[in-house]
Amino acid sequence: MRFLSTRRRHPLAGLVVVLLGLTVLGGLYSLFAPRAADARSAEDDLVEQGRQLFLVGCATCHGLNGEGLLTERGTNYGPSLIGVGAAAVDFQVGTGRMPLAQNSVQAPKKPVVYNDAEIEAMAAFVASLGPGPSIPDEEYTTASTDPELVSLGGEFFRTNCTACHNSVGAGGALPSGRYAPAIDDAEGVYVYEAMLTGPQQMPVFSDDVITPEDKQAIISYIAALRDEPEYGGHPLGGLGPVSEGAAAWIIGMGSLVIATVWIGTQGVRTRK
Ligand code: HEC
Ligand code: HEC
Repeated sequence: MRFLSTRRRHPLAGLVVVLLGLTVLGGLYSLFAPRAADARSAEDDLVEQGRQLFLVGCATCHGLNGEGLLTERGTNYGPSLIGVGAAAVDFQVGTGRMPLAQNSVQAPKKPVVYNDAEIEAMAAFVASLGPGPSIPDEEYTTASTDPELVSLGGEFFRTNCTACHNSVGAGGALPSGRYAPAIDDAEGVYVYEAMLTGPQQMPVFSDDVITPEDKQAIISYIAALRDEPEYGGHPLGGLGPVSEGAAAWIIGMGSLVIATVWIGTQGVRTRK
């Protein structure tokens, strides 16, 4: 202390104090200031990673920024993905529909090309283009075996889905060569996302129209269909009167004809 107090009138003392003050202030600032350089969050990294994957696998049809590309004839190579949301990507890529291999009337289900992490990244990228439905909460995409929920789901399914997907989810044909696929083995999360995003001819059933709870009921109903024992005998694909009529005609009429012929050959007169 003596050392300092004897030199406090030294001509450089003021300078030393100012420098000391600045150093302390600078140190404190760097301790408490927001880290600008690290502000890129994990979310941004995911989006960037997704953008890179998108540029390689999807941009040829959907455009560099997902804005969609038109052919010379004005039809789509790929539609705009702005606002379709993470749910659409998770559905389309998760069921193997995207990347589309070739333009056809309908994108068919194929073996999945990307792994879960890659799909998540691309979904984050597309979600960053514009607000859209996000990937649904697992709470509502897992099937329940609660009989009340299953029967409620059955009601929703019969009113909203059977017109295209058939009463047991076996699928069916639609006009112009399109079809509603069989959905009896569809995973809960894809059932939810299909309703949320309405792929192709399928209408959108937003969460305002069918609430997440009711969507879970539908998922539970579809799962129950899969596990249901076939009380009425073989369901013949669940296609209804056509396959049942054909079976009745071929087996029923067939055995009648065989029986008639047999009786004819065994009759008393034929033995004479
Ligand atoms: C060969 C062209 C092509 C490629 C490659 C392609 N798509 Fe598509 N995509 C299409 C077409 C055409 C449609 C519209 C028809 C349909 O929905 O089946 C579509 C539809 C979509 C949709 C649904 C949009 C909506 O309105 O719900 C999403 C999401 C999508 N693509 C994501 C992707 C992603 C992600 C990739 C890359 C992994 C990709 N696509 C690669 C052509 C392509
Ligand atoms: C107007 C006809 C129509 C109605 C109504 C409809 N869908 Fe669909 N659905 C389709 C078509 C068409 C596709 C195939 C889309 C594609 O291939 O891109 C589809 C696809 C699906 C898929 C995807 C299956 C897979 O292979 O991955 C599920 C799950 C599904 N629908 C569930 C439902 C549910 C649940 C309802 C009722 C709430 C419903 N759909 C109502 C036409 C319909």
